Amino acid sequence: MPETSAQSETTKPAANAETGKKIFIKTYGCQMNVYDSTRMSDALAPQGYTETQDITDADLVILNTCHIREKAAEKVYSEIGRIRKMRDARGAGAKQMTIGVAGCVAQAEGEEIIKRAPIVDLVFGPQSYHRLPSLLKDVEAGKSVVETEFPEEDKFKHLPAAKASVTRARGFTAFLTVQEGCDKFCTFCVVPYTRGAEVSRPVSAIVDEARALVAAGVCEITLLGQNVNAYHGSSDKGGIWGLGQLLEELAKIDGLARLRYTTSHPRDMDDALIAAHRDIPQVMPYLHLPVQSGSDRILAAMNRRHTRAEYFELVDKIRAGRPDLALSGDFIVGFPGESDADFADTMSLIRDVEYAQAYSFKYSPRPGTPAASHEDQISNELSSERLLELQTLLTEQQIAFNASKMDSTMDVLLERKGRETGQLTGRSAWLQAVHIDAPETLIGTIQPVRITGVTKNSLSGQLITG
Ligand code: SAH
Ligand code: SF4
Ligand code: F3S
Repeated sequence: MPETSAQSETTKPAANAETGKKIFIKTYGCQMNVYDSTRMSDALAPQGYTETQDITDADLVILNTCHIREKAAEKVYSEIGRIRKMRDARGAGAKQMTIGVAGCVAQAEGEEIIKRAPIVDLVFGPQSYHRLPSLLKDVEAGKSVVETEFPEEDKFKHLPAAKASVTRARGFTAFLTVQEGCDKFCTFCVVPYTRGAEVSRPVSAIVDEARALVAAGVCEITLLGQNVNAYHGSSDKGGIWGLGQLLEELAKIDGLARLRYTTSHPRDMDDALIAAHRDIPQVMPYLHLPVQSGSDRILAAMNRRHTRAEYFELVDKIRAGRPDLALSGDFIVGFPGESDADFADTMSLIRDVEYAQAYSFKYSPRPGTPAASHEDQISNELSSERLLELQTLLTEQQIAFNASKMDSTMDVLLERKGRETGQLTGRSAWLQAVHIDAPETLIGTIQPVRITGVTKNSLSGQLITG
């Protein structure tokens, strides 16, 4: 899933200054990691931990890591190097600092991390976050802890009780994990190995968490899953529900104005989900639907299990019900064996589909994945050339999409103060950042705005009053 949007690295904001221990969490990778970092902090709050933004003040540092591409994984080791220097500079007598590595690098590399970086005290994978307090006790007892087992049952133990999110909700938008893991095994991807098999949370747990978030002031929820539209959760009302039915249920929650979900696989867009885009006003007209390549040969080699024509058909079908749908996608260039003709097919697919936004990457061979041992690896030089050409086209499309909103009126969820005095920043239905002049009292509300300016990355406009 949006490791896409996974480019970001986030540190969590400081919580109330309390006495007691301080935790600093640095998050890499996709939105699921962002969500999980909050879960870790939840799990430690009862132990007296509060969050700090100042790493030098932390008793516990957790790096919540991403393994999707080599660069993402290597970032962890450079960060550990920086932490070691910082800790050494504190000198003797300074307080102890425990260092933990969580997330997908932890899951993939396990004890190798401690071998390579002995300063690390604790390595733990995404399935063990609920056990963090007890793992830390083992560390305090002088053990070096590596916990990367996948539990046989109750894979969602590490997810929160609904109450936890009430205290944790900050702001007006929130993530909510509904599904984890992936069974697709695309030949380039580590996720099925780092996150394990697909599991869906029961409907009632999701609805409870959504209600708690709304009660805490949230009005937009993004449902998360590595393969979110493969969701198939059990319902108290009977049977197994797909994502379309889940969205319908969530849309009944008063005060929940906007629903999104990410990331979807084209193979799992069923009719009920397509209908949800047409019929449920709360479901936003924006869909991240990665295709990776426009070449049938490469799609097959990637094990994506659909063709270029099937992707076009799907896009047409969704747009038929929701003509204003904005599409976003992920692309990989330089997959082993990608010829000029294959790349040209990707470019032509992009031209035909017209994306509002997209993420694109050079293929990065990942240890243990089938494509990594493919003989026909593409040179870095050629991949760079292709990436530049592809990104140039995607940027043009993004600018064109933003420009198409000029002079229109749209609803904007005003989320926070903007950079300039008197300015607020919010999001359009299509996930564009929108800047307007408006009083702070409107933060947390959805307002009609007339768009008077567009750039590559944002829109600006005026509040429509009266
Ligand atoms: N479940 C999501 C993908 C999550 S990973 C999906 O199927 O869309 C996010 C993106 O990272 C992928 O869509 C892909 O474009 C990119 N990616 C994954 N593995 C990669 C690799 N080995 N090299 C380059 N990009 C990769
Ligand atoms: Fe990775 Fe493919 Fe699963 Fe997405 S669907 S997480 S790209 S294996
Ligand atoms: Fe997310 Fe990166 Fe893991 S994209 S699932 S944190 S490998």
